[in-house]
Amino acid sequence: MRHLLSTADLTRGEAIRILDTAAQMAATQSREIKKLPTLRGRTVVNLFFEDSTRTRISFETAAKRLSADVINFSAKGSSVSKGESLKDTALTLQAMGADAVVIRHQASGAPHTLAHAGWVDSAVVNAGDGMHQHPTQALLDAYTMRRHLTGGGTGEGQDLAGVRVAIVGDVLHSRVARSNVQLLHTLGAHVTLVAPPTLVPVGVEAWPCEVSFHLDEVLVDQRPDAVMMLRVQRERMSSAGGGFFPSPLEYTRGYGLDARRLGMLSERAIVMHPGPMNRGLEISAEAADSPRAVIVEQVANGVAVRMAVLYLLLAGDVTQDSQQDKAGQ
Ligand code: CP
Repeated sequence: MRHLLSTADLTRGEAIRILDTAAQMAATQSREIKKLPTLRGRTVVNLFFEDSTRTRISFETAAKRLSADVINFSAKGSSVSKGESLKDTALTLQAMGADAVVIRHQASGAPHTLAHAGWVDSAVVNAGDGMHQHPTQALLDAYTMRRHLTGGGTGEGQDLAGVRVAIVGDVLHSRVARSNVQLLHTLGAHVTLVAPPTLVPVGVEAWPCEVSFHLDEVLVDQRPDAVMMLRVQRERMSSAGGGFFPSPLEYTRGYGLDARRLGMLSERAIVMHPGPMNRGLEISAEAADSPRAVIVEQVANGVAVRMAVLYLLLAGDVTQDSQQDKAGQ
């Protein structure tokens, strides 16, 4: 694998190899070996056409902890605002000798185009494209679930077989949901999407998961081990010309995680959110700040996972285990 564009491209063995490498990276950080020499002399470009706090800072931290040089490029304040195309931006990065380009773009498919159009020789990592994919978010989510739900330790070598996950909210606009459904299925977890009918994508029947419109029923009947709340993406609703439906009050009543619903969770269940959160809309302060919430830990785990991805793409071999995997390991 030369690029990381979609969780759909990962075999079980490749995904486990990334998670295991992330566990090793986290171990070096906890031993206070903050900086590894692994990517000395390599250049990572963060190419962000859309806003980001967690992903951009996390990739920058990850690259620096591997001793790579980092160039941060934001569309705001660059020649993109003068109309420069993705192709010409990419050719400029190529001329500067980027070894990896981490790209976030509002257009679904932009990372794929960058990887395959022949404009750059570098590895391309998708940091979120439109409503399509956000593979490193799904990997850090799986890493977090593995730490909490597979019987202690970091869960090295393990998948998520038997783990039940409810992904709740604005599935329609969510690249996090699409990436997670695919990766969690590959790792053997059982996924249920819970959303109002207006926020369920067309064609969801073909996804490897269940779909429900009733959060309380799912919490009672399925006893999920992880409840992943999704951000309501109001900015994508208005750009698509649609209104917010159901209303914010109806949404919170039907699909918000509050103190009452927190009390319905099983003892071992964890509460997740990719961030940024709309507190008071999809998640209450009690739920977001409860001892069950692993939301801040997800951010911390994101650094180790992104270190692993950069390391494996630039210095390792992410496919090492894939032959065993294909042989039914
Ligand atoms: N989860 C996530 O992608 O957050 P940012 O938009 O802050 O990067």
